[in-house]
Amino acid sequence: MNAFLESLPKIELHLHIEGTLEPELMFELARRNDVTLPFDSVEQVRQAYEFEDLQSFLNLYYQGMNVLYTEQDFFDLTAAYLKRCHDNAVMHTELFFDPQAHLARGVSISTQVAGITRALDEAEATYGITSGLILSFLRDMSEEHALETYEAALPYREHFIGVGLDSAEVGNPPEKFERVFERARSDGFHVVVHAGEEGPAEYIKGALEVLKAERIDHGIRSLEDPELAKTLVERRIPLTVCPLSNVYLKTVPDMSAHPLPALIEHGLCVTLHSDDPAYFGGYMNANFLAVQAAFDLSRDTWRTLSLNAVEAAFVSDMRRDALR
Ligand code: ADE
Ligand code: ZN
Repeated sequence: MNAFLESLPKIELHLHIEGTLEPELMFELARRNDVTLPFDSVEQVRQAYEFEDLQSFLNLYYQGMNVLYTEQDFFDLTAAYLKRCHDNAVMHTELFFDPQAHLARGVSISTQVAGITRALDEAEATYGITSGLILSFLRDMSEEHALETYEAALPYREHFIGVGLDSAEVGNPPEKFERVFERARSDGFHVVVHAGEEGPAEYIKGALEVLKAERIDHGIRSLEDPELAKTLVERRIPLTVCPLSNVYLKTVPDMSAHPLPALIEHGLCVTLHSDDPAYFGGYMNANFLAVQAAFDLSRDTWRTLSLNAVEAAFVSDMRRDALR
């Protein structure tokens, strides 16, 4: 069964490119850019990956990405991730980047986008992996800053397919970003929103009704509101679930307590992804194997999960047919 899962063609729909920064590359880029890291070794970085909650992870995540400065840095980061995609039988990936986190260090959106898209184009030519880039706003910053960032990104609009919302969830409900999401939707961008990771089901409702999210990232608390769950089922709104992330960030006590089987049983359009794989114990295959070890899902269920991801991807009809 593990060999079956490892070779199963996959679609990644919930991945933060900055969350693929492995400690080895972190050190290499720190040397290259003369950045002093608060760690002495790769092992020490890995030892620091003990998280209490989302915020304790975000603190390390934002600190880690401080080594990214040049177009080549963003290229190297993205190329390393795409090699992992190839090794994990990922055929299509839709990845987030956090422009505001890099603008804060004086790195322009042009530099970020150029490096990331050069690697994406190369991976399509080399491996046949297709992709889409999603600009994600940081919900613990103001909506004004999100709007300014959106404006700054518009000259590069042909390089991204949608907008997302991530970072510290509790206390930053979706409604805070109504105007910027309205703007992005009217400009023709896809809309996805992190909701119901640590935050309540109410935030999923807000993401759906106010921001008009086409997919909910995480959404593992959906079943806490039966009316909401019914709506999600009826409207076939995908939930991009990240099992290892949820265990590492203690949003579930352990994998056996994960609501994944209940979400599937409920008829929700569940898909599985890796979120921040350098920090959470592995890439797509690691997530699939961890789920299988905990729940012993049938091949039919895996087939359903795969087809859900084909349905949830923002691709052309032709590419969707090829991915099926
Ligand atoms: N940014 C990177 N990973 C994230 C996660 N799991 N939740 C919210 N924001 C994030
Ligand atoms: Zn995420």
